[in-house]
Amino acid sequence: MRMMRELSKVAIVLFAVTSFADAFVIISPQVQRANIQPITKIPKTVRLFAANTDSIVRSTPTRAKPRTGLAQKLLDIALSSPFWKLVLVPQARKNIVQTAEANGIQWKKSYEWLESQKGPWQTEKKLNYDFPDYYRKEFHAYADGNLCWNAAIEQELASRAVGARNFPAHGADGEDAFRSAFESAIIQQGGTCPDGGIIVDLGCGTGTSTRRLANLFPNALKLVGMDLSPYFVQVGQSLLELAPKKEIEWVSTITPDDRIELRIGDATNTNLDDESVDVVNLSLVIHEFPVEITLEVCKEALRVLKPGGQIFVSEMDFDSPAYAAQRENALLFSLLRSTEPYLDDYAEGCEEIRNFLVANFDTVKITAATGRHYAMVATKKVDPFSDVTGVLQDSRFNDEGDYIVNDTHLKVWESKE
Ligand SMILES: C[S@@+](CC[C@H](N)C(=O)[O-])C[C@H]1O[C@@H](n2cnc3c(N)ncnc32)[C@H](O)[C@@H]1O
Repeated sequence: MRMMRELSKVAIVLFAVTSFADAFVIISPQVQRANIQPITKIPKTVRLFAANTDSIVRSTPTRAKPRTGLAQKLLDIALSSPFWKLVLVPQARKNIVQTAEANGIQWKKSYEWLESQKGPWQTEKKLNYDFPDYYRKEFHAYADGNLCWNAAIEQELASRAVGARNFPAHGADGEDAFRSAFESAIIQQGGTCPDGGIIVDLGCGTGTSTRRLANLFPNALKLVGMDLSPYFVQVGQSLLELAPKKEIEWVSTITPDDRIELRIGDATNTNLDDESVDVVNLSLVIHEFPVEITLEVCKEALRVLKPGGQIFVSEMDFDSPAYAAQRENALLFSLLRSTEPYLDDYAEGCEEIRNFLVANFDTVKITAATGRHYAMVATKKVDPFSDVTGVLQDSRFNDEGDYIVNDTHLKVWESKE
């Protein structure tokens, strides 16, 4: 019985951590920032898609290696068992809904309201598109991953609920605190959009990140949110269309904004014109990609960005002490991986992704946004033929080697090793 209770708690945390919102943190009120210093220059000769990694000063601690072996295999089998899926995951869902409601986030009412609106979700029709294999996997404890109405309708509800759970000090505004921390770190690193600029938000989900970018950059002319899930795009679009209605009962305020357009599309092949975009945003997206997909997306961003255009990346930081420790813990990390299939790949590949950006962009700035997350801004060269070599400015750690933002994440399960 005690074991059941413990497992159930773990499942609750798992759902909270991985249900779209990906390991939210409580933002430290005292964010200390280190001076941003150029760390190294990449030799010009190796600039095409592969930086000379020897020349990059590692300012980060050694990361845990992915686990292998029999014990790990058994754990992974247990986590894909029917007991896990049929008993613990529904229990975890129930609890996150309760957490939402207890924090004044009206999950049930919002869900029922959207479901009652006219939309293709009423027919439960399966939408047929050609999806890449990596995308067909089970994500976030949904059997159909990102390819179902449930996941799409619940994305923003779960995001708010997880924010409230992991940011007790902020309650229902936890998600806002989390996302604001990324935005501040992006602006602090020179992230900008020129007047009349075009912003593309790749992997926009139902559009939360796109709507936030629209608020952050009132001077932008157009914001295109692109996602591979037709379900997410449809829900996001419906929310924007329903927003002017007085009786909207959604879980967050949605301001109608004619500049926003949500489209179904593949971040690796956007169909956008060469050098037509000022900003490419990737918010909480690339931890869901195999590394080779992320590199494809970066190449695509490089193609569509105008000279001087920027990529913004907001993500989990496995170099941060908190996530590095979590990755050391076989049980915790296996639980995470059971709903985030490419987490190990992402954790292993972060340096390769950074090196790719340094090799192909002018400057790459990265800093801690929270105690466990980074924000990165990479600026494309103005002159593609210039001799200027890429520069990495990594200010996540201070001179003493400490991560510059305190980790104040709710550590419920980390104390349960
Ligand atoms: C965790 S969600 C992030 C949503 C959003 N950016 C936010 O911050 O709220 C990741 C999204 O990436 C999308 N995605 C995954 N692979 C993609 C691809 N190749 N092209 C476009 N979107 C993709 C998924 O469908 C999912 O909606």
